[in-house]
Amino acid sequence: MIAGASEGTGASYAEQLAAMGINVVLVSRRKEALDQLGERLAGLYGIAFRSVVADLTQSGTGSRLVEETRDLDIGLFVSNAGADGAGNSFLGEPVDRALSLLTMNAANVVEAVHGFGNRLVKRRSGGIIVMSSGAGLGGQPWLTMYSATKAFELNFVESLWAELDGQGVDILGIAAPIMDTPTLRRATEGLGMDYSTAYDPANVCALALASLGKEPLVIVPDGPDEAQIPRIQADRKTRLLALAEWGKAYTAAANG
Ligand SMILES: NC(=O)c1ccc[n+]([C@@H]2O[C@H](COP(=O)([O-])OP(=O)(O)OC[C@H]3O[C@@H](n4cnc5c(N)ncnc54)[C@H](OP(=O)(O)O)[C@@H]3O)[C@@H](O)[C@H]2O)c1
Repeated sequence: MIAGASEGTGASYAEQLAAMGINVVLVSRRKEALDQLGERLAGLYGIAFRSVVADLTQSGTGSRLVEETRDLDIGLFVSNAGADGAGNSFLGEPVDRALSLLTMNAANVVEAVHGFGNRLVKRRSGGIIVMSSGAGLGGQPWLTMYSATKAFELNFVESLWAELDGQGVDILGIAAPIMDTPTLRRATEGLGMDYSTAYDPANVCALALASLGKEPLVIVPDGPDEAQIPRIQADRKTRLLALAEWGKAYTAAANG
């Protein structure tokens, strides 16, 4: 299941999974775009698909996705939708805009990961990928809510990675770089952005699928702190492993 699948990065995930012979559930707000993609992939790769129309900025959508797919054996959940426009003033925009992003990138991610996570643990196999952003590595002015919700996703995934250890289920966070997607193009229209150095989303998806089960978090090098990224990724993992050991000791003590 790919939440946010109709184009760009989400469609790349769908295509790469379909090419492996995996059936796909495609989620987004536009049924026609989902059906077109699903039919193309079914024709090319002989897979089955289901389109689910849902707006992830609406409360309860994460749980709805879990409930509406009870009849399917979901083996991989990809949380992909989650972008925001560029150059926002937090105080200058209505608070509802901030809350919509919070619902999409926090509440609904929590609901879906809780629901699908428990299903995957029961079947003792499967994976979860959460598309976060380099903007989640620290504060990013004029993308305040985006940066804050993407940081939530990173910490959420890292913690779960340790909690899922030994249960047959993998979880991976991607701190994605600038990717040349229709969403990015729309968000930056008229800003004079240079897309020539932006990543191809297909390459980021391929990296994510190859890294699932190997890393808690992949930070794709990009931006003004690009040279520091390998060290930041290694430091986060070292800290996480140490906290996982520390947490295990306390959990064992708490459970007698
Ligand atoms: N592109 C970048 O430069 C970049 C950089 C860093 C991180 N990221 C992260 O990577 C992820 C993918 O971003 P992207 O720019 O590459 O977008 P994308 O995957 O190319 O497109 C976003 C997908 O999500 C769906 N979607 C958007 N809002 C939705 C909503 N409210 N409810 C349901 N579905 C929704 C869209 O379909 P519909 O319009 O049909 O709903 C579309 O299929 C995001 O989490 C983003 O934060 C992107």
